[in-house]
Formats: sequence, structure tokens, C-alpha cells
Amino acid sequence: MSDRIHRLASFVRPQSILYDLCCDHGYIGFAAWDHKPLAGLVFVDQSTNALRAVRETLRERNLMDDPRIQVIAGVAEQLQIDDRPSDFVIAGVGIRTIVTITRTLFPHGLGPHRLIVCPEKNSLELRSFLKSQAYGLVAEDVVMEASRFREIIVLEEKGGPIHLLGEGYADRADPHVQNFVASLRAWHALVTKKREARPAP
Ligand SMILES: C[S@@+](CC[C@H](N)C(=O)[O-])C[C@H]1O[C@@H](n2cnc3c(N)ncnc32)[C@H](O)[C@@H]1O
Repeated sequence: MSDRIHRLASFVRPQSILYDLCCDHGYIGFAAWDHKPLAGLVFVDQSTNALRAVRETLRERNLMDDPRIQVIAGVAEQLQIDDRPSDFVIAGVGIRTIVTITRTLFPHGLGPHRLIVCPEKNSLELRSFLKSQAYGLVAEDVVMEASRFREIIVLEEKGGPIHLLGEGYADRADPHVQNFVASLRAWHALVTKKREARPAP
């Protein structure tokens, strides 16, 4: 299993209910289940095909009848969420999907919940959105998977400021992290230049 999956699972709080949204194979949920005592685990995906693999793994592991585990077929936006402290992982999907799910599930803020996101691509737009929601940053990280940078951003109702350009890990010596921060800043400079070059309306 990849570093990204282990790292994502490491940010799940013990005793929380974990919602592995857009779970596909469910590797993130299973990794967390194996390493943390969880109050519950909910796999959600819009693809019934993907959920077949999750059910197969549950069967192999004799977890099919565990009342703490649920498998929900459908779009994450239509989920009824628990009031108890829960952790929501949204990983491996585009920024727009993360924004739509987050807006729909948390119209009044995160409350007791933790949000753990890992977008497919450059997160600048996502970070701006998260800032606009006044979420607090709890942790952030960047890992390599299949030669690509993968950012992980962990948020709660209260926490530190959300950085736009990797300020949270810019001082790490890891060359991957340094390359990532440089690429994020180059991207931001390009976007700013394009915006400034646009004729005024
Ligand atoms: C690339 S997989 C990501 C798997 C896993 N989360 C990971 O990071 O390794 C993307 C999955 O998201 C699901 N998906 C995309 N949008 C969704 C939505 N709005 N609600 C539920 N599932 C969604 C797709 O069906 C697909 O199985």
C-alpha cells in the first residue's frame, strides 16, 4: 500500500467514525481500521462496481456482519452524517468534487468533525476555498505517489491558518517537499501573471 494511503490513515483520530468518501477499493478506510481503534467505518462511493471490491475485502476479513461498518452506494453529497465526532477523508478526486462535497456536508462549519483531503492535482483553488470557509489547519503534508506530488490537508473547526503556498512545510529539508513548494509557487506566479495580463472589463 502506498505512503499516501498510510499517511492519510495516520491523520484519522482514534475513536472517531471514519467516512471514507469516494472510497473506491476502500484502502484508506481499511488502513485506518487496521491501525486505529475506530467507533465506526463508513465506505461511500457512487460506483457499485468499486464497492464490490470493498464488500469482497470485508468478506475475506470476516467483517461483513460487523455493526460498526457500513457500505453506502451513492454520491457523497447526499450522505446523512452522524452528529458524533467523525473524520471525513476525501482523496483521489478533483478539487471541484472536494469543494462540492464539503459545501454540501458542512453548510454550517465542521463542528466536531475533522476533514482530511488529498486532491488529485494542484491545490491552490482548494486552499482558497478552505480559507473562505474559515476552517482551521491541523496538519498538512506532501507525499510522492507514482512520481507525483500528493498533498494532504487536515482541517478542523479550530486550528492554524491555511497556507496558500505550502508555507506549512516549506522549511522541510526533504528534496521532494522543496521541489513541491517550488512548483506550487511557480504555478501561483503563472496564474497571477495571466490574471494581471487580462484586459480590465
Ligand atoms: C480515484 S478513486 C479514489 C480512491 C481513493 N479515495 C484513493 O484516494 O485512493 C475516485 C473514486 O471516487 C468516486 N467518486 C467520485 N465522485 C464521487 C462522489 N461525488 N460521490 C461518491 N463517490 C465519488 C469514483 O466512483 C471513484 O471510485
